[in-house]
Amino acid sequence: MIYHEDPRMLHIGTLPDHAYFIPFGKDQDAFAARVNSQYFELLDGEWDFSYYDSIIDIPDDFTDMQKCKSIPVPSNWQLNGYDKAQYTNINYPIPYEPPYVPDDIPVGVYSREYNYTPDGLRRILCLEGVDSCLYLYVNGVFAGYSQVSHHTSEFDITDLLHEGTNRLTVAVLKWCDGTYLEDQDKFRLSGIFRDVYMLSRPEKRLLNFRITAEPDSTFTNGVFRVSVEGSSAKIRLYDGKTLICEGDVSEDKPFECEVTDVKLWSAESPYLYSLEIETESELISEKVGFRKVEITDGIFKLNGKHIKLLGVNRHDSYPDTGYYADREKMLRDLTLMKRNNINAVRTSHYPNAPEFYAMCDELGLYVIDEADLETHGCVNVYNDLKWSAENAYNGIALIAKDPLFREAILDRERLLVSRDVNHPCVVIWSLGNESGYGENLREAAKLIKSLDSTRPVHYESTHKLDNTSDDVLDMVSEMYTSPDDIRKFLEREDEKRPFILCEYCHAMGNGPGDLETYHELFMESDRLMGGLVWEWADHAVILGYTADGKPEYGYGGDSGERHDDGNFCMDALCYPDRKPHTGLAEVKQVYRPVRVTRISADRFAVKNLLRFIDAGEYLTCSWEITYDGGKAASGSIDFSAEPMGCAEITIPEAAQSFERDAYIRFIFTAKNGYSVFEDGEEVCFDQIKIFTVEKKTVIFAGKAPEFTETPLRYEITAGDIRYVFNRRTAQFDAISKNGRDLLAKPMEYNFFRAPVDNDIMKNDWYSAHLNDYVTKVYETNISAEDGCAVIRVKQSFGWSIYQPFAKMTAEYRIGSGGELDIKCNSEFSNKVEFLPRFGLRLFVEKSFDTVEYYGYGENESYCDKHQGSYVGNFSAKIADMHEDYIRPQENGSHWGCTRMSVTNGNDTLAFSNPDGFSFSASEYTQEELAEKRHNFELVKCEHNVICADLAMAGVGSAACGPQLADKYRLPLPKISGRIKIVPN
Ligand code: GAL
Ligand code: MG
Repeated sequence: MIYHEDPRMLHIGTLPDHAYFIPFGKDQDAFAARVNSQYFELLDGEWDFSYYDSIIDIPDDFTDMQKCKSIPVPSNWQLNGYDKAQYTNINYPIPYEPPYVPDDIPVGVYSREYNYTPDGLRRILCLEGVDSCLYLYVNGVFAGYSQVSHHTSEFDITDLLHEGTNRLTVAVLKWCDGTYLEDQDKFRLSGIFRDVYMLSRPEKRLLNFRITAEPDSTFTNGVFRVSVEGSSAKIRLYDGKTLICEGDVSEDKPFECEVTDVKLWSAESPYLYSLEIETESELISEKVGFRKVEITDGIFKLNGKHIKLLGVNRHDSYPDTGYYADREKMLRDLTLMKRNNINAVRTSHYPNAPEFYAMCDELGLYVIDEADLETHGCVNVYNDLKWSAENAYNGIALIAKDPLFREAILDRERLLVSRDVNHPCVVIWSLGNESGYGENLREAAKLIKSLDSTRPVHYESTHKLDNTSDDVLDMVSEMYTSPDDIRKFLEREDEKRPFILCEYCHAMGNGPGDLETYHELFMESDRLMGGLVWEWADHAVILGYTADGKPEYGYGGDSGERHDDGNFCMDALCYPDRKPHTGLAEVKQVYRPVRVTRISADRFAVKNLLRFIDAGEYLTCSWEITYDGGKAASGSIDFSAEPMGCAEITIPEAAQSFERDAYIRFIFTAKNGYSVFEDGEEVCFDQIKIFTVEKKTVIFAGKAPEFTETPLRYEITAGDIRYVFNRRTAQFDAISKNGRDLLAKPMEYNFFRAPVDNDIMKNDWYSAHLNDYVTKVYETNISAEDGCAVIRVKQSFGWSIYQPFAKMTAEYRIGSGGELDIKCNSEFSNKVEFLPRFGLRLFVEKSFDTVEYYGYGENESYCDKHQGSYVGNFSAKIADMHEDYIRPQENGSHWGCTRMSVTNGNDTLAFSNPDGFSFSASEYTQEELAEKRHNFELVKCEHNVICADLAMAGVGSAACGPQLADKYRLPLPKISGRIKIVPN
């Protein structure tokens, strides 16, 4: 039997596909968790296990073996000491020669006992997910075969059972012809990775049922229908505990009733009715949501209103359990999404466990349900065969047009729709991901439409090798498209479909920096359906544990893979343990349900971006007016804003004038059980600057400080403050107060940052040597001017081989109070096309461990990533300011600061610039962050490192998305900056 190398043999001995449901006893609560059903027996737990590196090594009597080792089910064997994990993104993990796979296929043989007492009921073995395929044996007799990893396979094994102890054996192969269709970007793991259970069911039974629950054209009443296969039944529909309709259903007579004044389902208001289906011996339940999805005039609508999908892409990926997401893990993910104002999730790139959808129905999340399909590796296969720069990427369609795979692809679509069709949360079917386009995909879309006409079909990968039309797709989908190109789409005369960004804002490492830009664009046109951030959580494997018990996360290349794709699997909004990245705070804020704008001095408009509920009913609005150092006023205000409506509110205090720049911040907290939030929990905020003080140029007065001058140094003394300027290096070697050194090393210019994942141009920085330059000083002089000691410098920065990468003129003014005002102008050579930062670096003793600042906090913030932060007074311990990206990189910066000081409690270095600057304070040097592959390898610097950045570039999302927008880059070739340092 070599079913695993034959794409026409997909399932042997399996039961027909059907909607997911679990039967209960007639006296049971059919809405309870499935484990409570008297007909459900969970077979998870320790199974006997033997692992073979090659299928060729399996003994003939393998089903009969003595117990060898054991393994938890569900799990992946690579995470349990067998074989090894491999992270590969696009490239196939095996040689490309479909339908063949390598001769030495790794195999895991799972086995366990099963006790059977005949009771007239059939025994149906259900496996919800097995990667990549399985051969099933019962008491040593072949019982069936099935492939498609992310799908349920069901076998009626009754006839192979005998009374008493039986043995179930599942041989799981790491590769099969299905491997060519499952080339998703993930760790490649194998085994029985979802729940396994036995159902006891009568011979004549309900096999399938189909619900349709749609509102009428005026959205007043609902039409509810149930059709059945296999058995007739009684139908009861409840609204809460109230029975609202009931009747009989049979195979030839669907049940239908009207529900008056129907309450509709949406992500904002996920109202569910309860359905009971009662057969002769079973009770089956399902939740029912009334809603209508449609696309009219190029606009995607739910219940007659255009909605935006503000979503994320989610993989099943957990460092401890691999592909297995138990109920608790799924619920934690989904609740965290809702808590961050996310309303949609794409099950990238395969169907999730069946219970996932019931949770989305309950919580209110729009689901793009995706078939288990990706053939991305064809790109490199094709290019290897015939490179053609023009249409190289179209090679992705090799399998999409290959008749050999037609049935296998259709099978995946059929499985998807049949299992999940009854869930209101599923609003869009997705054919799969990155598999190119051809006849197979066209047929796939047609098949889905024939199975379900109530939902539109999505597919992104329309690259093709022939001219098969993609008119069967209901929306145009793209990933990582730049905002400009999306605007061009909107201008196209020939394209009337709506547009979705199925992936955008690649959240790898420190980022994304472009969420708000995209969001503003989404709001410009109803043709834009919104987008889904790539991706929800970092994928990682646990390599070991630190001394204090924290997992050491690894990525591609850490498991001794033959080939890997490094840290491209750590590109998400959450760390592997679901601790949020700062990027998630950006999402929460950008996806906020209300937005406030100022209309006049004391008038503000609260725009409700929700489509179905009055924001004022669910959100409490409080406000505060603050400035550097204090709060001027605060209060709270009632408002009412109907869906997509606007409330105008008056805050007289906002019209005052202030002595300093002042901001008003509106804080919206949940009430009346809004979404998953606790009452009183913050949902979002909005901050608006309401007063700007005219900036005065500081006039230095008084007598200039004393200075001395030697060929190698200047020494300047202002009261108890003393500066030592090194004329050879053009650096301040020392700044001291009362003889105590405030600097641990000379202060230096800094043009480098530990590259963030989006800094794809980082090699240019290294080749210019921004990170370890040498300096040439052409000229230094000192004079007394306007009550200051003024040092002027001309210098350059460079390295071997090339001309200097930058020239600079700088002016240092030291006033009689000991303050130092720095002004510098630089011109960079054409070696530097992108400058990450332009600033100063200071090393201070460890005792300087506390920072205070006025600027964007308390999350790290950058010029393009500060939605989740606001302007305020913050103070922090330096030890807590590090954002611990698994692959270390630049982090913890604070943008838009007008002042910052670092102190040891006694002495302080204060930095300021009324026009704003960025700073970071870290226990790690940028060199250390740049060099180490993992966070757990980082070694702290013997000093604390303060970077005062006159300018810091944005972070963007260029690792996979568009280049960083010009407005977030540093101006080149000429850049100038200013900052004041006050030691005291
Ligand atoms: C997309 C793909 C995702 C993921 C992402 C990069 O092209 O659909 O699966 O690979 O790029 O992280
Ligand atoms: Mg891919």
